[in-house]
Amino acid sequence: MCGIVGYIGKRQAYPIIIKGLKRLEYRGYDSAGVAILNGETRIFKCKGKVSDLEELTKKEDMTGFIGIGHTRWATHGEPNDVNAHPHASMNGHFVIIHNGIIENYSRLKQRLEDRGYIFKSETDTEVLANLIEYIYMKGNVSAEIAVRLALTKVIGAYGIIVICKDEKEQLIAARKGSPLVIGIGDGEYFFASDATPIVEYTHSVIYMNDNNVAVIKNNDLSLKTIHNDTLTPEVHTLDLDIGEIEKGGFDHFMLKEIFEQSRSILDTMRGRVVSDNPEITLGGLYHVMPRLIEAKRIIIIGCGTSWHAGLVGEYLFEEFARIPVEVEYASEFRYRNPVIFKDDVVIAISQSGETADTLAAIKLAKEAGALVLGICNVVGSSIPRETHAGVYTHAGPEIGVASTKAFTAQVTVLAMIAMHLGDKRGTLTKEEYTALIKHLTEIPNKVDKILSKNEEYKEIAALYKNSNNFLYLGRGYYFPVALEGALKLKEISYIHAEGYPAAEMKHGPIALIDEKMPVVVIAVKDNTYDKIVSNIQEVKARKGIVIAIVNEGDTVIKSMADHIMEIPNSDFALAPLLAVIPLQLLSYYIAVMRGCNVDQPRNLAKSVTVE
Ligand code: F6R
Repeated sequence: MCGIVGYIGKRQAYPIIIKGLKRLEYRGYDSAGVAILNGETRIFKCKGKVSDLEELTKKEDMTGFIGIGHTRWATHGEPNDVNAHPHASMNGHFVIIHNGIIENYSRLKQRLEDRGYIFKSETDTEVLANLIEYIYMKGNVSAEIAVRLALTKVIGAYGIIVICKDEKEQLIAARKGSPLVIGIGDGEYFFASDATPIVEYTHSVIYMNDNNVAVIKNNDLSLKTIHNDTLTPEVHTLDLDIGEIEKGGFDHFMLKEIFEQSRSILDTMRGRVVSDNPEITLGGLYHVMPRLIEAKRIIIIGCGTSWHAGLVGEYLFEEFARIPVEVEYASEFRYRNPVIFKDDVVIAISQSGETADTLAAIKLAKEAGALVLGICNVVGSSIPRETHAGVYTHAGPEIGVASTKAFTAQVTVLAMIAMHLGDKRGTLTKEEYTALIKHLTEIPNKVDKILSKNEEYKEIAALYKNSNNFLYLGRGYYFPVALEGALKLKEISYIHAEGYPAAEMKHGPIALIDEKMPVVVIAVKDNTYDKIVSNIQEVKARKGIVIAIVNEGDTVIKSMADHIMEIPNSDFALAPLLAVIPLQLLSYYIAVMRGCNVDQPRNLAKSVTVE
């Protein structure tokens, strides 16, 4: 969380930094700030968005070839002007921006206070700035040494960029736990929390690793560990296009990303699903496939929407490959002393590849000797680098804070792995395997068909935009879809929504149903269809409003429900890929009609790099 940007080179830094912060605003947007080094270091910062920062600096001289900027998701201290980054050290030698959390900050702060340091903000970042300065002044060492020594005293996570006013042609950056990418241009360097602010200037990047410190001095880059061991930078070429990170005519990134799903599912299958053979090949798992085929148990970990995709994965793996699966919130898994066997396979799912709890759970599983695989969207992020092997979802950058196309891409990858395992383990017949592959390849066209009914969802949204509560019900494969539908609605429209297995309704939630309660029922045809018809009757008997997702041509539920949203027929195990789409659109339109900021909902951030 929090987005950081830095620039050093021959261009004006300020416009590059502001543009970069706008691209990173999805990571946090409660305050923003910038520091420009031009003889002296000038800091401007305020509560609010990057646009508020632009307003603040409108009449200021922002010239300078070195600068750093920050967009914040508050951890220590409320969002206000003082707590906004950058933070200067007490004697003004250092200015710093930081993404992450310094866990031992209060102990360090106390020690610095004992030595006369006075703090202006409530942040852990100001503590780090003053610690660096204290070491710099007391030890009479260079800025680089002071940064490295200070970081050896820090417990926690950081991505930082540091300016020292005494060493002018220089930027220092360091990373542990929070992502940091360096872009290498022609006589210029860019720093950012992810590659999106960099891609329009250069495609050559270095992904910093934990405990790395990078120093750009007099146009030269040096990379070291915090313990002063010299490293050889590994330069990668970005496979990212500038068009992919712009809105492309849509009102919001979320809408654009919902509409991209036929393409993103297709891209996720591209080169992996061959329908004329038919076969599924997953290059990223090639070396670990023998161990995966023999797995006695799979544990899937993730958070939020990625956890919901994992729940769909549980049904897919158990059904197709007959391997027992447990799905765990990464945050629970890591803290509850889980039993992990050496022959377990752990699959970590994450769009960003940076979620702190998921990363920590991966480390735990690796220490216990399990094979750890990743399903991630952001190439080069921390999770793919921490896992033994994995499969990228090729969904493209997801910028809207609410996850949409990442979910369908994750489920596509899980379906491909489960089907492949089913074939290799002999738990699917060749005919079943062939038929499933055919169904999977038909999904993108079916997604387009659902998207073409956009206006119908808008009309339903208009009717229920003022509801205070929603209930989402589903069974089997559609229970995780119900959870996902409820999460989408609550996070962007701030309407309370709960997802439940439909059969559980009578064990409690049925008490909530009255004539004002919209109940969204995912009633796609599967082996529990008759049961879900009964659940709909139970809701109607209590005068609840039923909005049902049904298969095309379903007349039974049409005659009972207040509204239906039709999806094309498919294999029921793959239908979560279809059923979720009307739910995404329903949430989107309700949120827009309520005047909410759908791309940047309150209190949220895209990449949750704090625990
Ligand atoms: C919901 C949402 C979050 C994320 C969760 C995990 O729309 O976006 O619930 O799914 O924070 O993030 P990743 O997938 O990046 O690990």
